[in-house]
Amino acid sequence: LVSQPRDQHRRPLRDLRISVMDRCNFRCPYCMPEATYGEHFTFLTSEQRLDFDEIERLCRLAAQLGVSKLRLTGGEPLLRPNLAELVGRLHRIPGITDLAITTNGALLARQARELREAGLDRVTISLDTLDPVLFQRMAGGRGKLDDVLAGIEAARAEGFPKGLKINTVVQRGVNESSVIELVEHFRGTGIVVRFIEYMDVGNRNHWDTSQVVPSRELLQNIHGRWPLEALPSKYPGEVATRYRFVDGEGEIGVISSISQPFCGGCTRARLSSDGVLYTCLFATQGKDLRALLRSGSTDEALLEVLQKVWRERTDRYSEERGKKRSQENHKIEMYYIGG
Ligand code: GTP
Ligand code: 5AD
Ligand code: SF4
Ligand code: SF4
Repeated sequence: LVSQPRDQHRRPLRDLRISVMDRCNFRCPYCMPEATYGEHFTFLTSEQRLDFDEIERLCRLAAQLGVSKLRLTGGEPLLRPNLAELVGRLHRIPGITDLAITTNGALLARQARELREAGLDRVTISLDTLDPVLFQRMAGGRGKLDDVLAGIEAARAEGFPKGLKINTVVQRGVNESSVIELVEHFRGTGIVVRFIEYMDVGNRNHWDTSQVVPSRELLQNIHGRWPLEALPSKYPGEVATRYRFVDGEGEIGVISSISQPFCGGCTRARLSSDGVLYTCLFATQGKDLRALLRSGSTDEALLEVLQKVWRERTDRYSEERGKKRSQENHKIEMYYIGG
């Protein structure tokens, strides 16, 4: 049996988040601003992206090291041709008990059925507002709110075994006013909305603490309207803190990476679409696994590399934010690693 590595802070490896596509059909200014990611930006070629055999192989090895949760991200994962085939292959890996996807939802109506049939457990849709004009602006003029809502509806109708979540990034002065509306819209539907504190991911979003709305403040506002009660966390180091509506109409969550960092329980590794493994969302460097895959490395050799990378891991960026921030201008970008 392969030994399951612990990192320098004794954290095990449990989740692998895989970016399957660096492109996106939106241009959210905080992630892929049009000015940078316009017509002339060079994305990866399909040859540069890991193919399904390579992704499946890495996931099988990761499962041997303790990974039980896989999340497919982008860019926009639904732009990857034949994604349902990959889902089916990952679903069949022994030890994988949770297979999820994070999508902007615009292409979901068309793909929800085949993804569910292939074995996808659940879907998380990014949605920052229900105001069509603000939505247009926040998606960089490319997305349509109605498509996303149709995607959510199609996924709900499909009945994914572990349900749906909405992720909402809240930016001061941009979409704060959308929070109550989103809660109202999804309350009682079984869909869990989670509000994310705006983070300093990547180097291009000109992040500033003044743009962060602390979760505490949002919770007070929501609680004033629909009383909330804290829920215990489901597992140590859970990213979201959960609350239920006292009136029984469901739950919401907050992800407070700025005001309450959760690195202590961070069991996540991330794989870019060109096969570089990162041990933190804020990493500046990763390990190129594609080079190993394409030069004939054996499973044993790959396992050793994965174990070594994880054992040497010291990351706790969010807990050290401020100390580190000024030094680092070469962090990976969100579109490349998928959040
Ligand atoms: P569930 O399994 O559904 O609970 O998913 P999750 O809690 O892992 O969250 P999800 O993948 O939906 O991530 C939601 C958001 O939380 C991401 O888009 C990031 O903004 C943030 N996030 C997730 N993982 C991390 C992490 O490891 N570090 C930091 N700083 N933020 C994270
Ligand atoms: N801070 C927090 N969340 C972000 N996302 C993208 N950029 C940021 C940021 N700077 C979110 C997206 C999506 C998920 C993949 O990450 O809105 O929900
Ligand atoms: Fe927006 Fe997500 Fe696309 Fe980035 S990857 S541009 S956050 S939809
Ligand atoms: Fe994990 Fe890095 Fe996020 Fe901390 S900042 S929770 S170490 S990914």
